Amino acid sequence: MMYMDAAPSPAGPAEARAALRYPPAIRLPRGLQILRFNQRQIQFVFRARRELGEVFLMYAGIPGGSVVSGHPDHVRSLLAAKPEHVPSLTAESPLRPIVGPASVLTANGPRHMRQRKLLLPPFHGEAIDRYRQMIALATERELDRWPVGRPFALAPRMQAITLDVIMSGIFGIESRPVRGSAEHRLRSTIKYLTALSTSPTAKLGELANMGREEPVGLMRTAVSLLDRATYAVIAARRRAEDLAERSDILSLLLGATTEDGESLSDRELRDELLTLVLAGFETTANSLAWTWERLLRTPPAYERLREAVRSDVQAAEHVEAAIVEGMRTRPVIPIIGRRVAVPWRLGEYVLPAGTAISVSILLVHHREDLYPEPFAFRPERWLERKPGTYEWLPFGGGTRRCLGAALAMAEQRVVLEAMARHLDLEADRPEPEHAQHRNVTMIPARGARALVRARR
Ligand code: HEM
Repeated sequence: MMYMDAAPSPAGPAEARAALRYPPAIRLPRGLQILRFNQRQIQFVFRARRELGEVFLMYAGIPGGSVVSGHPDHVRSLLAAKPEHVPSLTAESPLRPIVGPASVLTANGPRHMRQRKLLLPPFHGEAIDRYRQMIALATERELDRWPVGRPFALAPRMQAITLDVIMSGIFGIESRPVRGSAEHRLRSTIKYLTALSTSPTAKLGELANMGREEPVGLMRTAVSLLDRATYAVIAARRRAEDLAERSDILSLLLGATTEDGESLSDRELRDELLTLVLAGFETTANSLAWTWERLLRTPPAYERLREAVRSDVQAAEHVEAAIVEGMRTRPVIPIIGRRVAVPWRLGEYVLPAGTAISVSILLVHHREDLYPEPFAFRPERWLERKPGTYEWLPFGGGTRRCLGAALAMAEQRVVLEAMARHLDLEADRPEPEHAQHRNVTMIPARGARALVRARR
């Protein structure tokens, strides 16, 4: 292992003043860094590590730039630290103008912990078990519609499934909602805005909104559409007669009170619900899309998975291994960040309080010392090994670890298994798809295009 000699820790103020030492910066104009990060993120960060070393300063991802590290010791020091020492950079992320400054994703401090406590039970592994049947139905419905012999992008198809799942879990909307209903309007608005968000205009809008509390421009219009649809669903649910018997998250939140006995306002409900939808469905869909993008370019791995699933020999283990390896090689959220509230030491560098520090999940996942042949897609490496907390972290870690991790894993297991069992798939082209950055996610640039050769 090539870990640094001393585990990094928050340095004392005197030490920090005396020994401030910044890492090298990527030597490209800021605009170009943002462009490269958005268009070719994988090549961009690996080149920076090759040329500058373990820790470097990058002007992309967040306004004002951040120090980036992919060292497990640094990751541990940041993610295991006291939350008040490492407020999350999600408070400054491009999601903030959409989900609001006070949702579980963007809040810091006691408010964040309160919201996590409120939301954890419905996302607990056992609670998720109840969704399995519903996930299987949504998958079956979707797979049946796919054409044979004609290439199409998998990502939007995966999104149709994960949107059904999230709408059902969060809003209690079973199957596809009735046309003209508040639920139907909400679902179509989300779909429409997601499709729109890949356009070049939307990318510009995203940049214009970085660091803002309230949205501007095109994003303002989009958010007001979303708001109208969400508030209509909340109002309809407040009036529902069976509210007390319902187990969906909206109904639970409508009945929940804060520690001082107050219930959540419509605005708070809206922020929380949209956070869960936006954090939950595209991430899971693109994670699945990436795993297929990798599998279809690694025929022996695909063949082993198909055989295990179809013969029912170690099927669950092979499905799990493919998902874990997919998330290692193509983490949909490739980078997460904190703004340290105290001076911080990262190996040989000492940074002042107020520095933004990012964990490059992508870099951690491709360390030669943790993963021999890190760029090879080899699910079998997980058949004998369990992911380590600070070595495999597609869901982040510590007090801000992904709330939806259990749901996302359950969805991926069901969908991957069904696809491996019932479909023979092929990539439309042999060359790998590039990684494109959208909002906070890294997605396959062509949507993981594939074709169904045959159905079983
Ligand atoms: C494969 C799918 C997913 C991936 C890769 C993923 C990844 C992540 C990551 C890396 C974080 C940590 C962000 C940070 O530390 O700054 C996070 C946070 C979060 N995720 Fe996920 N996520 C996924 C699915 C979901 C789902 C399905 C939901 C909910 C339905 C969800 C809800 C959240 C929420 C609410 C947070 C904020 C937690 C907090 O700040 O306390 N995610 N996710």
